[in-house]
Amino acid sequence: MRRNVLARRGHFWTMKKRLANCRTNLRVGGNKMFSLKDKVAIITGAGQGIGRAIALALASQGAHIVIADINAKSAGSVIDEIRALGNQAIVVEGNVTNEADVQKMVADTIAQFGKIDILVNNAGTVLTGPLTEIALGDWDKVMAINVKGVFLTCKSVIPYMIERRYGKIVNIASVAGKIGGGLMGNSCYATSKGSVIALTKAIAKEMGPYNINCNAICPAFTDTPMTVNFPKDKREAIIRAIPLGRAGKPDDIASAACFLASDGAAFITGEIMDVNGGLVLD
Ligand SMILES: NC(=O)c1ccc[n+]([C@@H]2O[C@H](COP(=O)([O-])OP(=O)(O)OC[C@H]3O[C@@H](n4cnc5c(N)ncnc54)[C@H](O)[C@@H]3O)[C@@H](O)[C@H]2O)c1
Repeated sequence: MRRNVLARRGHFWTMKKRLANCRTNLRVGGNKMFSLKDKVAIITGAGQGIGRAIALALASQGAHIVIADINAKSAGSVIDEIRALGNQAIVVEGNVTNEADVQKMVADTIAQFGKIDILVNNAGTVLTGPLTEIALGDWDKVMAINVKGVFLTCKSVIPYMIERRYGKIVNIASVAGKIGGGLMGNSCYATSKGSVIALTKAIAKEMGPYNINCNAICPAFTDTPMTVNFPKDKREAIIRAIPLGRAGKPDDIASAACFLASDGAAFITGEIMDVNGGLVLD
């Protein structure tokens, strides 16, 4: 009888311990699975919009942040928000299409933090209008920022990830890259984001052996400074086609980026993740 009571007590304490371990592993923020504590993350184009939301979200999970943006003023205001959370953060002003700027971004990060765990390729631009009216210079500019920029940052950052056999790359593509754009004539933008999707898969294959994960997020229409001037009728038509009945918010994209940057996504690579309210289901 007494042995039974002792056995039950032992079982009770084992179960309690297992439950406590489970809670520790799953608790967002202070846990192993989703925590980004003391990770170092570079986010390009984090001075506003989706990039800003991603920087704040990664910081809220404990990451130290490098804001890489062509606009030092807006980047500076995000730095203040991150430091207010108690995290370390630096701004590196630069253009992702310029290899020297990108190399400086990496050098400054290594000088400050000694490593790079996470790279979020978010800097981007949009171009709308009929294909026959796109000026060659505009086409080249969009391709340079949206595609060459991702290539250059990956080229400079990946050697540091290979060295440590650890890295998480998250590329911000777009639903346009999957379906050829939307209502406003997006051939150039869609082509650039389709390229980001292909590049994501290629990097995932090539860098998998080094324990580097590379994934992309495809947002649908999201309310940011980029889309603030879209014609109202077009915005409403897009939202009508979204089953969840609203535009995306930067935080919707940021939470997906946090997951993909975490060790909770350790076995996910080459994934093209839809964050689109159900607009495209494939
Ligand atoms: N907003 C949307 O509806 C939407 C939808 C799908 C995908 N996206 C993608 O999400 C990303 C962020 O979009 P957003 O809406 O927040 O845009 P945004 O225009 O509000 O912000 C873009 C940021 O990138 C920076 N930037 C631009 N060119 C740069 C360069 N050459 N070098 C360094 N920084 C540069 C800008 O200064 C700005 O801070 C982009 O890649 C965009 O294509 C946006």
